[in-house]
Amino acid sequence: MAAGIIDGKLIAQQIRQELKAEVERLHREDGLQPGLGVVLVGDDPASASYVTAKEAACAEIGIYSADHRLPASTTQAELLALVQRLNEDPRIHGILVQLPLPRPLDESAVLLAIDPEKDVDGFHPVNVGRMVLGEPAFLSCTPHGVLQLLQRSGVRLAGSHVVIVGRSNIVGKPLANMLIQKGPLGNATVTVCHTRTADLAHHTRQADILVAAAGQPRMITADMVREGAVVIDVGVNRVADASRKSGFRLVGDVDFEAVSAKASLITPVPGGVGPMTITMLLHNTVASARQHHLKASR
Ligand code: GUN
Repeated sequence: MAAGIIDGKLIAQQIRQELKAEVERLHREDGLQPGLGVVLVGDDPASASYVTAKEAACAEIGIYSADHRLPASTTQAELLALVQRLNEDPRIHGILVQLPLPRPLDESAVLLAIDPEKDVDGFHPVNVGRMVLGEPAFLSCTPHGVLQLLQRSGVRLAGSHVVIVGRSNIVGKPLANMLIQKGPLGNATVTVCHTRTADLAHHTRQADILVAAAGQPRMITADMVREGAVVIDVGVNRVADASRKSGFRLVGDVDFEAVSAKASLITPVPGGVGPMTITMLLHNTVASARQHHLKASR
């Protein structure tokens, strides 16, 4: 039987409507407008298109966004000075430095310089540590978006075996840690697979929920998926396509056509996890504005 499609665009739209209402309320009752500082260094086309989409989404729900596009020649000191200005700017409640940064910029030093209370990406070690300890923290956007997709599609996480393919700091590691927390978005049993995993298919076939986050176009084939599994494709890979004006198209880490015939539910690429990542960034920015306002009015 063909799998049901988890429509990330639709679910993201629903959450954005909820956030828009919250932004309107903050404005009406507290005279507050959430603000996001967006930093893009260099001219990587995929990063530029993500940043443009993030800024458009801010505008759509009434978040102020301050755009900072810097040349690839930007020095570490210049970038750190900008982060410091954003840390101190009262109009800014969230800071997003788009990754990856061009070489030789030091990504971890830049992430460490962001005020953890404005770290709406959830990448600062303080937020990662709080999340692992089960304390309140900004949750990083892609893994949080995956959990929201599953929950809002009625997929049971408690007691499920989730197999994650990929161990990145942005997706695999934080997602595994979120899933083992106690609580409505956790209580799962988790296996994390990576490039050194022996007999990958043996592990992926055990999954009730399979999350592909390896950055390898169509690496998850039908023989690697258990009949009836839920499949979440986090991959966004550009592959050459001469029939497109852009010269490329986006494909996920999952062989969508073949795997759809076995899975019970599956996310498409594009239109699955992607819109949720941006939506959770909006969610964190609104939450941060609320927290800053509460703190200031105490
Ligand atoms: N690059 C890829 N995904 C992300 C993300 O969620 N946030 C940032 N800042 N950079 C990214």
